[in-house]
Amino acid sequence: MAIYLSAQRIAAYRTAAAHQVTVEVLDETGSTNADLMARLGQLSAPVLLAAERQTAGRGRAGRTWHSVPGAVLTFSIAWSFNRPLHTMTGLPLAVGVALVEALSAFGVRPQLKWPNDILKEGKKLAGVLIETAKGSAAESTWAVIGVGLNVALPEGFEERIGRPVASLDRAELDRNHVVGAMMNSMAAALTQFEQQGLSAFTERWNRWHAYAGQAVCILDGECVLHEGRAIGIDTNGALLLETVAGLVDVLAGDVSLRTAGEGKHAVTG
Ligand code: BTN
Repeated sequence: MAIYLSAQRIAAYRTAAAHQVTVEVLDETGSTNADLMARLGQLSAPVLLAAERQTAGRGRAGRTWHSVPGAVLTFSIAWSFNRPLHTMTGLPLAVGVALVEALSAFGVRPQLKWPNDILKEGKKLAGVLIETAKGSAAESTWAVIGVGLNVALPEGFEERIGRPVASLDRAELDRNHVVGAMMNSMAAALTQFEQQGLSAFTERWNRWHAYAGQAVCILDGECVLHEGRAIGIDTNGALLLETVAGLVDVLAGDVSLRTAGEGKHAVTG
């Protein structure tokens, strides 16, 4: 088992951008996202809640997020924005940028799959689930941003969950340091997002785009909505696709890589 997560150790990594974040660690909980969502009414400042083990981890689109203690980092940050809910649509992309920028400092080469899955060598390394609620002040919004990052996966994990996954695979890393770095990068990005919106992140997102220039399809479950060449995101956070019918901006769906001659190769997370 790696070094245990510790609130004190994580907090010791805080930079100025994250100075107001309270750090908490639990041995076990259902879901750090659910816990923070339930506490929003009592919060007045950002909180980072990490757990060694989640028994009911939530993924996007109602999926389950599987947790392996010591091998998967699971944490959420509750953050309040002076922005109305309808201006928050670009937030998942900004968070993706913050995470790849933090992880790249550890010597991995992460990439972004729209909207914000984090890949390593084409396989899912981390996933993000963002839940929002109206704040108590007019025009304010709370976001609970949950991150699940595979640090070192046990034998047979891919078979168990039925899809390809990657992990950091850096046994020497202190997981407290990795959480601390992601917290700092996210705190800086969330502050910038509040002030500037997605415009501060579009170019950065496109730099980390896993499928830039590649043939992809957009799926809704088993149904193919669009096929084309992935260009990158636009200023609204839509994924631009060059199709036979012209440029399409995709606002929803799962992106799946199409490999020449192989047909559809599902890499959805
Ligand atoms: C996805 O890719 O489907 C998103 C996965 C998000 C998982 C994290 S783990 C910490 C936080 N708590 C949860 O219940 N989910 C998020």
